Amino acid sequence: MNNKIVIAGNWKMNFDHIETKNFICELKSLINKIKCCKIVLCVPYTNIMTAIKYVKGSKISIGAQNIHHEEKGAFTGEISANMLSKLGVKYVIIGHSERRMYFNENNNLINKKIKIALKYNINPILCIGESLEERQLNITNEVINQQLKIALNDISNENIKKIIIAYEPIWAIGTGKTATIDQINEVNLNIRNCLKKLYNSNISKVITIQYGGSMNIKNAKELLSQKEINGGLIGGASLNIKDFFDIIKSSNV
Ligand code: PGA
Repeated sequence: MNNKIVIAGNWKMNFDHIETKNFICELKSLINKIKCCKIVLCVPYTNIMTAIKYVKGSKISIGAQNIHHEEKGAFTGEISANMLSKLGVKYVIIGHSERRMYFNENNNLINKKIKIALKYNINPILCIGESLEERQLNITNEVINQQLKIALNDISNENIKKIIIAYEPIWAIGTGKTATIDQINEVNLNIRNCLKKLYNSNISKVITIQYGGSMNIKNAKELLSQKEINGGLIGGASLNIKDFFDIIKSSNV
């Protein structure tokens, strides 16, 4: 399988624009010395302009952490796909469990967000994953299939290839508890199976499926050496330049 490996940092609500500049300048000088995979930094909205200015000429792309599903209008405090695209944003995290949980985002809304992102040439990083309760009830695959089916409703064969899927078990996010290799492989294979049914076999093989949930310097090498894990969506460890760089290096195993 020849999937594109993508290491993405999800900074969440951390770092101001000055810290962003310093982080990116340091990361750029570190990655210049190595051959590395595709890197995406999903930064807070207020840091996007600075981030885009400083990643120029490097392997790093800038992503947003959210997008509004409408084109424009009376949505106080929201940011549109057009605004992000005009700044040069190339990726956007959609459907993160924190947004599903704290901002009541459901699969139908996530589908709308994916569509508007694609319309403006922004690649969605679609997050899916089960809660601890769902895992214990043995319904992980059903939950994942349902999330995929609704989130990808009416997304064409051409457009699905622009989407990265991040498998993030909710119980592993920010908890220090990582899913086991077996658990991740099983879910990622189920995701490919589901994509095969929704699209076709070739599409199911080429999509990048990341893992997210307490990926760190201790477990990254093993996780990223799995055929079924094509990168990571990294929260906590992406805030530490040394850790993040170590994880990037681990992707070249
Ligand atoms: P974590 O976060 O690496 O801190 O667990 C991952 C995420 O929320 O995407």
